Amino acid sequence: MPKIRFAIRATSVICGLLVAGQKFSCTQTTDTKGYGLNVFQTTTTNNDFCGNMAITDSVGELVDICSAFCGNGNIPLLVGIPSYGFNHADIDTVCLADDNSLAQYNASHMNDCRSWSQALLLIKTRAAELVAALENITMAQLTFKAGIALKSKELAATMSSQETRDQLLSVTQSRSVAEYRSILEAGVADFLSTGKYRRDLQDTMEVLRNAGRMLDTTLNSNLPQLSRFVAECGDLLVSTGSSNEYLLDICIQRAAVCLDNPEAQHVGCCCSTIPLGGTFSITGEEGASEQQNSTDGSRRLQTAGAVDVCAEAEVLFSADLSQRSSELQSTTEGTALLQAHQAALRTAYPNFYTESGCRSRRLGDLDDMSLRHDGQAGKAAQEDQRRLQSQLSCTPQRATLGDTSYKAAFWAQTEQNYCVDIPPDAGATAMTDLGLSEICKSFCGENAIPLTIGGVYFGFNQTTMDGICLAGDIIEANSSFVSQCHTHARAMQNVQIKLAAFVSSLSVLEAEKTLYEANAKKAAADLKAAIEARASSVMQAALVNEKIIKLKELLIEETTSMKTSGSAYSAIQRAVKDVEAKGSDLQSTLSASLAALDTLVTDCNKLFTGVGASNEYLLDLCSQTSTACLDDDLGRHAGCCCGYSPLIALGSNTVPVATIDGLSNSRFTTDSSGRTRTAQRRLSTTYDVCGEAGKLAKPKVDEALAQVKALGFQSLIDERLMTMARRYPAQFGCNLPSCSSDTGGTCQIFSCSSGRGPTSCTNGKCLCSEGYCANSNGVCISVSDYIGDGATSFAQFVHLHILFILLAVGQHF
Ligand SMILES: *[C@@H]1O[C@H](CO)[C@@H](O)[C@H](O)[C@H]1NC(C)=O
Ligand SMILES: *[C@@H]1O[C@H](CO)[C@@H](O)[C@H](O)[C@H]1NC(C)=O
Ligand SMILES: *[C@@H]1O[C@H](CO)[C@@H](O)[C@H](O)[C@H]1NC(C)=O
Ligand SMILES: *[C@@H]1O[C@H](CO)[C@@H](O)[C@H](O)[C@H]1NC(C)=O
Ligand SMILES: *[C@@H]1O[C@H](CO)[C@@H](O)[C@H](O)[C@H]1NC(C)=O
Repeated sequence: MPKIRFAIRATSVICGLLVAGQKFSCTQTTDTKGYGLNVFQTTTTNNDFCGNMAITDSVGELVDICSAFCGNGNIPLLVGIPSYGFNHADIDTVCLADDNSLAQYNASHMNDCRSWSQALLLIKTRAAELVAALENITMAQLTFKAGIALKSKELAATMSSQETRDQLLSVTQSRSVAEYRSILEAGVADFLSTGKYRRDLQDTMEVLRNAGRMLDTTLNSNLPQLSRFVAECGDLLVSTGSSNEYLLDICIQRAAVCLDNPEAQHVGCCCSTIPLGGTFSITGEEGASEQQNSTDGSRRLQTAGAVDVCAEAEVLFSADLSQRSSELQSTTEGTALLQAHQAALRTAYPNFYTESGCRSRRLGDLDDMSLRHDGQAGKAAQEDQRRLQSQLSCTPQRATLGDTSYKAAFWAQTEQNYCVDIPPDAGATAMTDLGLSEICKSFCGENAIPLTIGGVYFGFNQTTMDGICLAGDIIEANSSFVSQCHTHARAMQNVQIKLAAFVSSLSVLEAEKTLYEANAKKAAADLKAAIEARASSVMQAALVNEKIIKLKELLIEETTSMKTSGSAYSAIQRAVKDVEAKGSDLQSTLSASLAALDTLVTDCNKLFTGVGASNEYLLDLCSQTSTACLDDDLGRHAGCCCGYSPLIALGSNTVPVATIDGLSNSRFTTDSSGRTRTAQRRLSTTYDVCGEAGKLAKPKVDEALAQVKALGFQSLIDERLMTMARRYPAQFGCNLPSCSSDTGGTCQIFSCSSGRGPTSCTNGKCLCSEGYCANSNGVCISVSDYIGDGATSFAQFVHLHILFILLAVGQHF
């Protein structure tokens, strides 16, 4: 490795003063075209002739010096060889070309490209915000559902309490209806417009709508920029450094005259770059100091500017997620819902939500305790029962108010037993009010609030029940309204689908960009080989006045494959076109959907009467007393209806007409007596934007990365992973091939030693927490320390030594 220092020899070097040990006294100058660009000198410039210095006496060494000057991402253009040099004007015909064939200088265009390149970054950041907002809604919905379960339990407890019973017993039948209503109203208040569950969902929705609008605005201004970036920044431009340097005056080939002398024969180096590759300037001076600290090449890798949409979304959402998770986990209902959700994600997206190797990289470490299922109808102990069968024979009625397509339903026990005689669920000794509310809960399913009306000791007739179940004070029956709300709620699903397609196109673009970089690196490496192999003979053979022309032709020929005519360019162009298409698709969906979500929030903030697949809305649980039917004014039955919020359908894949389980709940379908009607079970599917995007992108990403490997640039993939792991240690750290979470420690008897760093005890093993890797001593160190620790295992997998020697187009845009 040549030890070169590129220095600005500015005014402090006095013209004509010979520095000790130096043969020449050339000073810094500027370009011949009046752009005001600086020529840099190095330790070899004035020292001796090129051929007399060990580090400049071969083409290969000169190319290496030139590469180091240009730095990562630039194509080094060596002008001159140990056997032939040029004067400044000649060099500038290559380095400041008039055409765009090799290295045109156009500062304003370079600046445009630089600012256009930011477009993608902004788009990704905004997309991540929308992904986070959608995840937020999913979690808020789980909270909402857990709230339903909790409130149902509370309501059941209140209803069956001795206090309520005494209160109801002490008033007349007509008064007791009013009492009942007020208890129910209080019970569902949290789900009504000002209630805390609804408000939370509404707030979350507001965040979503804002994120949607921001992304829309960003796409409006940035997609065109992205297009221009791809369309206009794929040609070679002169790359300049922070001191406006464009040329390195490496050494004097012959004749002791400075560069500006028409007879000068110097070897120079300038740099050309394709802005599309994400490089907009040369490393210049930095390149020199970096080279001296070459043992820590990893510092070169940039973290700024690399954004992974899904990881970014996780980071954005992580604080809220852990808060929401712990809130959910504070109840058994919430814990069960969360586990079911996570299990569903793992099943639906096994590649994205992995469980092994990388500990589930997005999901919490919940113990895999089995989920609670709705208690099955107890196989009743055959007890002596006062049978109603022969005396009570009723027909299920239609609703007496509002939408009369709604039907009351009977289950196996409606005509069989008085309320008090119904065989209780396993574990209980006798049917109680609580037992009846469990049955009601099954009827309503987990997405609606069960309203048990009446109990073992109180009954009501259907008119009274309908006054609660249909009239609109507590819940309202209006199926057309509900289906309208469902249409609005589906808007979110539409956004999710389009967003997944968009995020997927961004991943594909990222992979194609890596492939483009690999191709550019390959071409740059080929260029070095070509110069080494051909420059001498080409220049030897050329007439004296044509040498610079021939050299330029050689350079042009060798850089052609990097330019817009190459196949690498068309792949990245296709990928950007796809991003544009998916982006504008998303935009049109957003504009329609945000309006729908607005309507949803303002108009659908009520509870509606839940209906099952067969339009059942009211379950006639049992007769509390007498053989009179429910529809009889003397009938005194216990019944059950359900309050349904259309918000529950937000983001669902398919929104069924049935809003409650109704008779299709397993409690009722297990009855084979024919007394219960059965209908199809509702299916709800889990949809996850990032999981889906991963699935969609996989084939193209895999193909592009396979090509990168085939070109011999696995190192680029590793670099990207490393960049990502630095920025997103929790999300990408566990994907580093050499990062193991297993400390080797066990925690079967004692807990993990604190000396191991942040750990958790899983299945008796001490595993490092997310974002940490176990080092060789079994201590968990942070991913960034782990990567930074180049001396250990990491160096084995990333080949850092080639980073600054290879001519790379290797930064992220
Ligand atoms: C620089 O590039 C822009 C296009 O971005 C072009 O319009 C302009 O003419 C170029 N300037 C020069 C000096 O070539
Ligand atoms: C999640 O929703 C809450 C409101 O319910 C909001 O305060 C928070 O900012 C949201 N978080 C994200 C990351 O969208
Ligand atoms: C390079 O290393 C030297 C000491 O070894 C240090 O002073 C200098 O700051 C380092 N430069 C960079 C860019 O890290
Ligand atoms: C049901 O809702 C619609 C609005 O979607 C309304 O026009 C209609 O009057 C409502 N019907 C009843 C019976 O309330
Ligand atoms: C139902 O019961 C209420 C009071 O409990 C009574 O006022 C009403 O007349 C009854 N209606 C019918 C149709 O049975």
